[in-house]
Amino acid sequence: MQRATIGIDVGTSAVKGLLVGPDGTVLASAVREYPLLTPAPGWTEQEPEEWWQATVQVLRELAGQDGVEIAGLGLAGQMHGSVFLDERDQVIRPALLWNDGRTGAQAVEIEQRVGRQRLIEITGNAASAGMQAPKILWLREHEPDAYRRLAKVLLPKDFVRLRLTGSYGTDPADASGTLLFDLNARNWSEELLAALEIPRDWLPEVAESPELAGRLTEEAAALTGLPAGLPVAAGAGDNAGAALGAGVVRPGQGVLSVGTSGTIFVHGGQAMRDPNGALNGFCAAAPGGWHLMGVILAAGGALRWYRDAVAFEERARAAADSKDVYDLLLAEAAEVPPGADGLFFLPYLSGERSPHMDATARGAWIGLTLSHDRRHMVRALLEGVGFAYRDCLVRMRAEGAEFGELVVVGGGARSAAWRQMLADQLGLPLVVPQAEEGPAMGGAILASVAAGLQPDVEQAVAAMIRPPARRTEPDPEQAAAYARLHERYAAFYPALRGLTG
Ligand code: XUL
Repeated sequence: MQRATIGIDVGTSAVKGLLVGPDGTVLASAVREYPLLTPAPGWTEQEPEEWWQATVQVLRELAGQDGVEIAGLGLAGQMHGSVFLDERDQVIRPALLWNDGRTGAQAVEIEQRVGRQRLIEITGNAASAGMQAPKILWLREHEPDAYRRLAKVLLPKDFVRLRLTGSYGTDPADASGTLLFDLNARNWSEELLAALEIPRDWLPEVAESPELAGRLTEEAAALTGLPAGLPVAAGAGDNAGAALGAGVVRPGQGVLSVGTSGTIFVHGGQAMRDPNGALNGFCAAAPGGWHLMGVILAAGGALRWYRDAVAFEERARAAADSKDVYDLLLAEAAEVPPGADGLFFLPYLSGERSPHMDATARGAWIGLTLSHDRRHMVRALLEGVGFAYRDCLVRMRAEGAEFGELVVVGGGARSAAWRQMLADQLGLPLVVPQAEEGPAMGGAILASVAAGLQPDVEQAVAAMIRPPARRTEPDPEQAAAYARLHERYAAFYPALRGLTG
């Protein structure tokens, strides 16, 4: 009999579950999707009951594998959302999600009540519409009848935990995205709760991510086919869960994700925050660990835009030769030297989050001459994305973050040519994981500690995450050239600020 653990990711599009062996082998996986509700422009909601039903189905599929004894379960999930419960644990209204934009006014109100600097000092974050606290203020203002019934506010995965174990709980990694949490103390902030008039007993108890936070009830056991009494770990927000899945547990390790948008974050042994509020400071899932994160809005998305809006000829050529158009674009970019013969690109096609926090920022090619052609334009575009990450890196270093290597994930990371360019532009080694299992793997790792199969998170990661498949070292000469080019790049945005949008 092999002892395995289950990780569940309560995501925005689906619940994903993994059954993971003690050496990290994925023995089974299951997914159940559900809809995203958009009742008004800019609003996003989900029915917590859908998360629960999807979780039950996923667990039923993972339970009962031959030769496997399931030893524990761990949850990860979408951060920042608000599940509003009455005193009988009934859901009062659909949950507001992390990408819901209706609460801009409440975010401003929170900064006014608390003071922006004080808020960043306590929580590691400036107020933004997506976080949980503004959602509670919104309910108070806009749905007073619902607000009067309020007895508990939970994060998405913590609602699923309530159904699994019958107990209220959360963890520092997820709770540090609520805007009610003290980043240093890894607990709720009495000062913020008082300033925002939110009763402490509306919020669940906090346990560190790998701690045992409850056991499966008889009722949940009957529904899922798992054994009653199964240990359930406190778990983590999805970013912290994915970091564990990528093997990131030590100071200096970080993650570079190159999806439509991009994130860069680093693990540190002390709380890190950006006094300007342009970066997010969160607790890590490993006790005694913290993350500092920057988000750029157009990473792979900038290249996709170029493919669709500009690269008609390349698309036709790739189709005729049965080639991937991205490979073709990257090969063309490689014909041009670093710096694209003086051409720069600002990738602010959707405004920018870190570090500029400017919704009116816009994209641009700067420095065009008669000698440039489309190869230069695509090279400059790729370099612009790399420089946007580097802007975050520079800001993170200024706040004391130390970088050793970055695990690179996401679709953009698949191209060796782009990886080399990013390694050179950031001046850091990039490593490619053997498998990209995402936040659910983090849940399974935490479960293995809660169930006593592993002594702590670091050792669980060492046992369950394999060494990286590939490593891309920065070329010292190119890195030095890019460091100089970045200084020129960094001067363009301040010069253009306020002229676009
Ligand atoms: C993190 C964030 C998202 C959600 C998505 O700050 O908003 O990554 O956690 O699930």
